[in-house]
Amino acid sequence: MVSCFEKKQYSERGNCDCFHFGVFMDSRIGHAAYEPAIYSIHSISDLTPHEKLFRIEIPDAVDFRHEPGQFVQLSVWGWGEAPISISNSPTRKGYLEFAIRHAGSLTGALHQMRPGSKIGLRGPFGNGFDVNRLRSQNLLLIAGGCGLAPLRSLIQYCEDCRDEFMDIRILYGAKTPHDLLYKSDLAAWMESETFDCRIIVDFVAPNHGYSGKIGLLPELIPPLEVEAENTTAVLVGPPMMYPFVVEALRKKGLDDERIMVSLERHMKCGIGKCGHCAIDHFSCCIDGPVFLLRDLQGTEWAG
Ligand SMILES: Cc1cc2nc3c(=O)[nH]c(=O)nc-3n(C[C@H](O)[C@H](O)[C@H](O)COP(=O)(O)OP(=O)(O)OC[C@H]3O[C@@H](n4cnc5c(N)ncnc54)[C@H](O)[C@@H]3O)c2cc1C
Ligand code: FES
Repeated sequence: MVSCFEKKQYSERGNCDCFHFGVFMDSRIGHAAYEPAIYSIHSISDLTPHEKLFRIEIPDAVDFRHEPGQFVQLSVWGWGEAPISISNSPTRKGYLEFAIRHAGSLTGALHQMRPGSKIGLRGPFGNGFDVNRLRSQNLLLIAGGCGLAPLRSLIQYCEDCRDEFMDIRILYGAKTPHDLLYKSDLAAWMESETFDCRIIVDFVAPNHGYSGKIGLLPELIPPLEVEAENTTAVLVGPPMMYPFVVEALRKKGLDDERIMVSLERHMKCGIGKCGHCAIDHFSCCIDGPVFLLRDLQGTEWAG
């Protein structure tokens, strides 16, 4: 256990379960709920023309613990904060990775940064994927587009704890071959005996040389043999794909207790205080972002 004093020496900000500089530290999370911890970006690499991978190193003295599927509130001075998923598994310690799309002002500023630039982090927040519910199950891990960013944390977790799960299938769809995130991971997962990894893209430019499957993500589901009674599906991606994927899963016999979805909402506080992320009676930032489809009945996400 790292003492409060040691942590203060590291960060000069008191990363502990106490009242410090008037800021309440939440004992459930690795960092203060309200106060960003400051980190230097260790490395930045291109994933696609629109997404970059940011890596920060977590010093040994910092007790940062996260679950697959959780997110942080990432801040850039002058631009504010944005919720960003942690893209690596908690089993891969000592660093955090974020796959970030240039979507607007804050993410645009992030894309201009260089290794050594400073960012702030609050969190981790959200419930993450309920790994207990996934244990001893066949898994269908389904991602569209940027949805692979949070799902990768679960995929890596499954890889590192392989014995806890039965068959693991990864289904991933992107707009074009250029838009596929984590291309080297995808190549490794396709080679690996750990996973059955299938990829599809919406369209391919003439003479691109891509030899994989072309079509929409839900098309990957009908050919699969699925034992519905011991399979759970996890779905992350753009909202417009959800109804089609859910319909295909239901046709395979999966009921809504066996379909887990991760949702995105505009967020501000990340800790259930401001109401920005409400989905019916849920706060997406603390009750989610991961929900069982069963629990979303009566909301716009019912599918
Ligand atoms: C739980 C969660 C996890 C996320 N994880 C990631 C991630 O791993 N990688 C990543 O690139 N993005 C992720 N996002 C989306 C990311 O937070 C937004 O793209 C970011 O807030 C945009 O900030 P900006 O200032 O650059 O854009 P702005 O200038 O504020 O807006 C640009 C555009 O992005 C839209 N936008 C803003 N916030 C959101 C949001 N929360 N959801 C959807 N659209 C939004 C705006 O409506 C606008 O159209 C996540 C969002 C949530 C809620
Ligand atoms: S972001 Fe404030 S309540 Fe969820």
